[in-house]
Amino acid sequence: METKIIKINNDSFFNKILNYPAKVLKDGGLVAFPTETVYGLGADALNSDAIKKIFEAKGRPADNPLILHISDIETLDKITKEYGGLAKKVISKFWPGPLTIVFRKKDIVPDIVTGGLDTVAVRMPSNKIAKKLIKLADTPIAAPSANISGRPSPTNVNHVIDDLSGEVECIIDGGECSVGLESTVLDLSNDEPMILRPGKITFEQLKEVISDLKIAKELKNEDIDEGMDLKSPGMKYTHYSPNADVFIIETKDDFDQTGVKEINKLIKTKFADYNVGVLCTDDFYDDYQCDNKISLGSRDKLDKIANKLFFSLRKFDEIGVDIILAESFASKEIGLAIMNRLKKSAGFKIFKV
Ligand code: TXA
Ligand code: MG
Repeated sequence: METKIIKINNDSFFNKILNYPAKVLKDGGLVAFPTETVYGLGADALNSDAIKKIFEAKGRPADNPLILHISDIETLDKITKEYGGLAKKVISKFWPGPLTIVFRKKDIVPDIVTGGLDTVAVRMPSNKIAKKLIKLADTPIAAPSANISGRPSPTNVNHVIDDLSGEVECIIDGGECSVGLESTVLDLSNDEPMILRPGKITFEQLKEVISDLKIAKELKNEDIDEGMDLKSPGMKYTHYSPNADVFIIETKDDFDQTGVKEINKLIKTKFADYNVGVLCTDDFYDDYQCDNKISLGSRDKLDKIANKLFFSLRKFDEIGVDIILAESFASKEIGLAIMNRLKKSAGFKIFKV
């Protein structure tokens, strides 16, 4: 299939340019589009044949459900059973934006979208292109991240082209994603509000609105067993993996010189025969004895670090390293999401010092 790439660089032409991808979606085709978090691979959520194509293009396991993207609350009421005042409060505070909420679903949502679950995950993105596209398509859009399953999520159009060119009708180039990590997933489908995937909207922020908020215990366990009954099916799959093997060097509190020493030691000993890359921060960049270093930025700016994480993992693939040694971060605020993605990309291979 030939993939049409549409570049958007002028607000005033939005409507006209997005008519074509909106029609592709209405006709049951696939469109990759930017959101504020990562690029999504979209299809009409109410069309089972279209949804099947998403699973095929990504090589995604059928029991890993998709997020439905909407542009107005009327659509939410069409796809979900009644929800309470707490959900309304959370929606009014955090939508549109990088927060996905799990609701009880109505029958109109096909089983293939939710992997047979009786719940559905919904998000109203804030990205202008995404919002307009969904509105023009006039249907909820199911969209996982626009990467081949298991690879780091795409934060710019080149990542999408690398993974999905020839597999989708259209890719919309809307520049770099501003958040760079997938949305927070919050389960409000029962009376135990729970974070299933950490993201840009943090536990601390949500806790201000939801006093009895919990974090899924699976996120605290480092090893997830395939047989476990998981709250979110996506938890059990390997994720975000570059071609190289990733190892995290974790220190007791925030990362410090003990960690730097360990990384330099590993480069000289255990990994002496490998082409090693160090995924680090400005704070320690000059201290590593290594040719391939990528800094995620300053530790004072964790949002920027989150934003560069997937981009940098893919960058190491371009350089062609065998091993990536990564600094750790404290698991609080957005650090929880950074460590969650980093641990998954490392397949939980961690050196504790
Ligand atoms: O930021 C994002 O959320 C991006 C952009 C494109 O919106 N999308 C995204 O989709 O990250 P995906 O498919 O890569 O991740 C969806 C996650 C998976 O971990 C999945 O298991 C979980 O959401 N999920 C979806 N429906 C669910 C449900 N009904 N119950 C529990 N977890 C669900
Ligand atoms: Mg994904």
